[in-house]
Amino acid sequence: MQAVFSEAAERNKHPILEKLHPLLVTCKKVLEIGSGTGQHAVYFAAALPHLQWQPTELPETLPLLSSQCGRYPLDNLATPIALDIDTAKWPVTRADAVFTANTLHIIHWPQVCRLFTQVGKLLPEYGICCTYGPFNIDGRYTSESNAQFDSWLKKRDPESGIRDIANLQQHAKICGLSLQENYAMPANNRLLVWSKCALIE
Ligand SMILES: C[S@@+](CC[C@H](N)C(=O)[O-])C[C@H]1O[C@@H](n2cnc3c(N)ncnc32)[C@H](O)[C@@H]1O
Repeated sequence: MQAVFSEAAERNKHPILEKLHPLLVTCKKVLEIGSGTGQHAVYFAAALPHLQWQPTELPETLPLLSSQCGRYPLDNLATPIALDIDTAKWPVTRADAVFTANTLHIIHWPQVCRLFTQVGKLLPEYGICCTYGPFNIDGRYTSESNAQFDSWLKKRDPESGIRDIANLQQHAKICGLSLQENYAMPANNRLLVWSKCALIE
């Protein structure tokens, strides 16, 4: 059964917002992928009234997200919509920024690639994509707890797992995205900010 409340999202939403705030000053529309319980969507939309926040989820988990977001009527919180990374045609074709938390280690590598490919298409030049969660650096875990988490993930689904930043960079480059910021966050997580811009070799 899908959880209606995430303790982790409650803990990390403020540290994430502190980083997102200056990055999204001129942004008008943010597309969130895999919004889960909607806690990030509600919190960020309330704190960033100058922009529209579009939460999305898989069709099967959309009802829960919709009912959670429906409890917080905010003018700039769009009605959640279905978005499956696997579909060829995404329901959103333009956004100034993309946000996704704790998804890249859940979805399979081809889906990670698809996500970057689609994001590369829908962002304008200098648009950003913020990916939050645990990441490896140079093939290494950044903590023992992340190593244990990865082994738990792989037992559950062998194709899931913590992604290496270098591997992400390699695919992101093909999609016209480069790593602009790599913030260390509480609990051995990171916020990676990808920017769509001319790549400097
Ligand atoms: C670990 S949860 C993270 C939820 C939320 N972003 C958070 O940080 O609390 C991973 C989310 O990815 C979503 N997800 C999994 N596969 C997906 C796919 N193919 N397309 C879109 N979302 C997907 C799941 O439904 C789930 O809500």
